[in-house]
Amino acid sequence: MNKEEARQRIEQLRKELEEHNYRYYVLSQPTISDYQFDKMMEELMELEKQFPEFEDLNSPSQRVGGDITKEFETVKHKYPMLSLANTYSEQEVTDFDKRVKKIIGEGVEYVCELKFDGVAISLLYREGIMQQAVTRGDGYQGDDVTTNVKTIKSIPLKLRGDYPSEFIIRGEIYYPHEGFKKLNAEREELGETPFANPRNAASGALKMQDSSIVAKRPLDCWLYNLLGEELTTSTHYENIKLAKQMGFKTSPYLAKAAGLDDIFDFIKSWDKSRTELPYDTDGVVIKVNNLKQQQELGYTAKSPRWAIAYKYAAEKASTRLNSVSYYVGRTGAVTPVANMEPVLLAGTVVKNASMHNQDIMEKLDARIGDMVYVEKGGEIIPKIVGVDLSKRPDEAKRIEFITKCPSCGTQLIRREGEAAHYCPNETGCPPQIRGKVEHFISRRAMDIESLGEGKIELLYDKGLVKNVADLYDLKYDDLIGLEKVYPADAEKKERKVSFRDKTVKNILKGIEASKEASFQRVLFALGIRFVGETVAKKLALHFKDIDKLMAASFDELVAVEEIGQKIAEAVQQHFRKDENKEIVNRLLSKGLNFKVSEDEAETSDILNGRTFVISGTFEGHSRDELKTMIETHGGRNTGSVSGNTDYILAGEDMGPNKRQKAQKLDIPIIALDEFLQMINKE
Ligand code: IVH
Repeated sequence: MNKEEARQRIEQLRKELEEHNYRYYVLSQPTISDYQFDKMMEELMELEKQFPEFEDLNSPSQRVGGDITKEFETVKHKYPMLSLANTYSEQEVTDFDKRVKKIIGEGVEYVCELKFDGVAISLLYREGIMQQAVTRGDGYQGDDVTTNVKTIKSIPLKLRGDYPSEFIIRGEIYYPHEGFKKLNAEREELGETPFANPRNAASGALKMQDSSIVAKRPLDCWLYNLLGEELTTSTHYENIKLAKQMGFKTSPYLAKAAGLDDIFDFIKSWDKSRTELPYDTDGVVIKVNNLKQQQELGYTAKSPRWAIAYKYAAEKASTRLNSVSYYVGRTGAVTPVANMEPVLLAGTVVKNASMHNQDIMEKLDARIGDMVYVEKGGEIIPKIVGVDLSKRPDEAKRIEFITKCPSCGTQLIRREGEAAHYCPNETGCPPQIRGKVEHFISRRAMDIESLGEGKIELLYDKGLVKNVADLYDLKYDDLIGLEKVYPADAEKKERKVSFRDKTVKNILKGIEASKEASFQRVLFALGIRFVGETVAKKLALHFKDIDKLMAASFDELVAVEEIGQKIAEAVQQHFRKDENKEIVNRLLSKGLNFKVSEDEAETSDILNGRTFVISGTFEGHSRDELKTMIETHGGRNTGSVSGNTDYILAGEDMGPNKRQKAQKLDIPIIALDEFLQMINKE
C-alpha cells in the first residue's frame, strides 16, 4: 500500500468507525457486529502505526486510551459552572415560578428534564472537533480530563451535520447501574473497598492516570446545556435538538411545560419510574425555555435564576440493627451482612444490608441494638448510611469483625492492600465447595437446570459431591430416596428437598446433556478467579484446548487481548494446584469438551453487519456454538426480535411469540442448514 492509498484507507476507516460508535453508543442501534468493529479498529491501528505521519488525536483509535496523565492541568471556565438551587417541595417550586413571572411577566414556558446524578463535565468544540473536557472544580476552574473523556464512546470526537464553529456543551458523566454492580463485585473480590455509589465510581474513573483503564469502564454521558456566542437558536429546547443533531447523546425525557400543573405532572410521573432507569437520577430540573428570558433573569452568585432543581427525597428509613452475619462466597471472601428489623423502603421490605468489609463496618460504627438509617437508590441494594446516636441504647454492643471462618473455623486472612477477609480453606470449606458447584451448574456455565434450588446442598450434605467432577460419578441408586428438611433461616422458609424417580432421572439427564457444553463454557464453569464469561471465551478461542492453556507461560497469557497480569496469574495459580489438575483430568475422562470445535475455530467476514436471533433447539449444535459461529463470521446476536433483526435462526420448538413478531416485521426465518450454507459449511 502506498502512502496515498494508506491515507485514504485510514480516513475511510476513521469515518466508518466513528459512525458505528455513534450508532452503537448514542442511538443504541448498531449495524455491525462487535467482531467486525474490532477488526476494523485493528486495521486502523495497524495503519496508523505504519504511517505515523497521519496521526490524528481525534481518531476513533484514541478511544482505547493509553495516554497517562501524571497531573491534571487546571483550566479556567469561560462561563462559570454554577450549581442549581435545590428545592424539595411543591411550595418552593411555586415560589420559583412566582419569582420568574415577577421579572418576565405571564406566559413563561418551561422545560422539565431529569436531574442526572453523576459528575458534571464541560466540553469545548472548535470546528466540529472536541478540544477539551474540564471538570466542574470550584465552578470557576476545573481539571483538564480530556484524555480520559475521549475514551467515553458516546461523546463525539467529531461532530455531524452543521455546527457553530466554537461552543461549549455541558453534561453529566455517569456510571450505569449494571456496570457499577460488576465493578463493585470485582472490587470486593479483589479485596478493594467498593464505591459507595455510581457517582463516586464515575468521578474516580475520570481522575485515573491511565486512560486505557478508563476506556474499559462503561462510562456514559448525557449532555444538557449548550453555550456559545455563535448560537442562533432562541430556546433551550431548540438547543437540545441541535445538540442531538450534532451527534450528542441528549435525554429523550424532555418536556415543555406551560405552567405549574405541567411541571408537577412531570415530577409525579417520574417519582417512581425513575428508579427503573438503568442509571441514577435524583430529581427534576426545571428551566425557563426562552434564552432571552434566561438572560433577563440572570444569575445569583451561586446559581441561575432561570432554573431550579426539584430533588426527590432519598428513600430512607430507620430501623433497629439486630445482628451481623458473615457470608462466605465461592472465592472464600467473607462479607458482613446486617440483619435488621424489617422495614418498608421504596416499596419493598428490607431486612438485610451488606456492610461490605471490616473497614466500612468500623467506619460506620453501628452497634447491635442501634437505630440505623437505611437508604435505597435506584436498583442498588439497600445500605446503612448512618446511626441515630440519640437513640443508642445503653447496652448497645460494639461489633468485632470475626477472625475465624464462620463455616469451617479456619483462621481468616487479609492480604496486604486488600479490604476483604478470606477463608483460605478452598477445598474444605463447605460454602466455598457448594458455591463452586453452584457456579459450575449455573445457567451461563454448564446450565444443569435440574440441579438447582437446594439440590447441591443435599448432595454435599450426603457426602456425594465434594467437587464438580463428582457430579459425573452420580448414579441412580446413589440418589433415589435422598431427603432432607432444611429449617428456615434469614433468607428462606423451611423447605424439604427430596429425590424421587422423576427428579433423579432429570438430574442425570441434565448432567449427561452438559457434556455437550462448549469448551469456553466448561472453562468458565471451572470458576477460576477473574475468569468470567468473556475472558473464558477469549482464552478458549486463543489457546484452542486445555493442554495449551495449562502449559501457557505468563507472557503467552498476557499476550492475549484483554488478558492482564491479574488474570494471567490467577490462571497459572489455578492450574498449578494438584487438586485442580485432577478435576480437569476426571472431567476429561468423562467426556467434557476441553477443546474448541472446528466450527468455532473458523473465522470470516461473511455475516458482516447481519443481526441474528436464535430460537429453539438444534440437533448437533448447541446454541452457544451457533452464537460463536455467528460472531466469528462477523455477525451479531441479540436476544429479542426487532426492526434491526436480519435473520431468525430457528430450530425445533421456536417460540410462538418470536415467530409472530418475525412474520409481522417480515424477517426471514432460516433453518440450521440454510445458516450453515450461508457460512459455507454445507
Ligand atoms: S443544567 C447552571 N440540567 O446538577 C447550571 N444540570 O446542581 C445548569 N445536573 O452542575 C445545569 N442533571 O452537574 C442541568 N438536566 C440537567 C442536569 C444538571 C444534572 C447537575 C449538573 C449541575 C448540578 C447543579
